Amino acid sequence: MGNILVTGGAGQIGTELIPYLRARFGPERVVATGHRKKPAAAILAAGPFLALDVRDRDALAGAVVRHDVETIYHLAGVLSAVGEANPQLAWDVNMNGLYNVLEVARGHGCAVFFPSSIAAFGPGSPLDDTPQVTVQRPQTIYGIAKLSGELLCDYYHHHYGVDARGIRYPGLISHQALPGGGTTDYAVDIFYAALREKKYTCFLHPATRLDMMYMPDAIRAAIEIMEVDATRLRHRNAYNVTAMSFTPAELAAAIRRHIPEFVVDYTVDPLRQAIADSWPDQMDDSAARSQWGWCPEYDLERMTSDMLQALSVKLAIPFSL
Ligand code: SER
Repeated sequence: MGNILVTGGAGQIGTELIPYLRARFGPERVVATGHRKKPAAAILAAGPFLALDVRDRDALAGAVVRHDVETIYHLAGVLSAVGEANPQLAWDVNMNGLYNVLEVARGHGCAVFFPSSIAAFGPGSPLDDTPQVTVQRPQTIYGIAKLSGELLCDYYHHHYGVDARGIRYPGLISHQALPGGGTTDYAVDIFYAALREKKYTCFLHPATRLDMMYMPDAIRAAIEIMEVDATRLRHRNAYNVTAMSFTPAELAAAIRRHIPEFVVDYTVDPLRQAIADSWPDQMDDSAARSQWGWCPEYDLERMTSDMLQALSVKLAIPFSL
């Protein structure tokens, strides 16, 4: 049996996916990689790590050969707000990185997991109950790279038989690593502020509804789609998956049920507000549910209490449910 390589090992998803994969398949079988940031100390201590820039195809190919890699979870990427500040960098990392991963996968027979996003939709897409197949005209460079990535993955599947599979993640909420430069980051930042300062200034309007998911569900979705029998997949790149949908005001209210003195005010950032307004409120994930059994476990209430509990331990701030 071959091994697994994860790009973006220091990122929000990689920080939790790598330990999960190592617990499941054995630490030596999961190669963590990272470029700008090093992964968490626990990841470095527990199994193999390589410094790797996904734009360096030779280095990626060398790692795949040396470590006998059969599956690549390609998580390295620049998020939406950072991408708008530096579109050239976002295109270079997000598009050329994926192209290199797919080329290496083609040459060495690897399967590829590709995380697409709600950002692959845009103005013109129905934003409520966004269908699996619909108009996709994203306007951020991040979303354009995600949509192009979906198409490129499908191309490599159809033309070269690369087993590339993807899901469209909503905003991801987690307590281990920070997201770093996205539009949905408020839904993580708000928990740190609630515990530390009991107040938070949100950069989105209180009524901005967005699709969201808690990290344990996001990790399970990635692994489940990679493990399901290929004959069940009719779409491949990429499946809508969702778990909950809320506004900043609703999230603040859910936190206030545990921390009654918590207050939120709003200073809207026009850039991120415009991005959020172009993304789905909630995707229709019935294709993922019926074709490969997707089913989320965390709703707003359950995620909120778990986040507060886990973060209070991490930040050493007394808190009880
Ligand atoms: N969470 C991402 C962002 O906000 C969207 O995929 O950029």
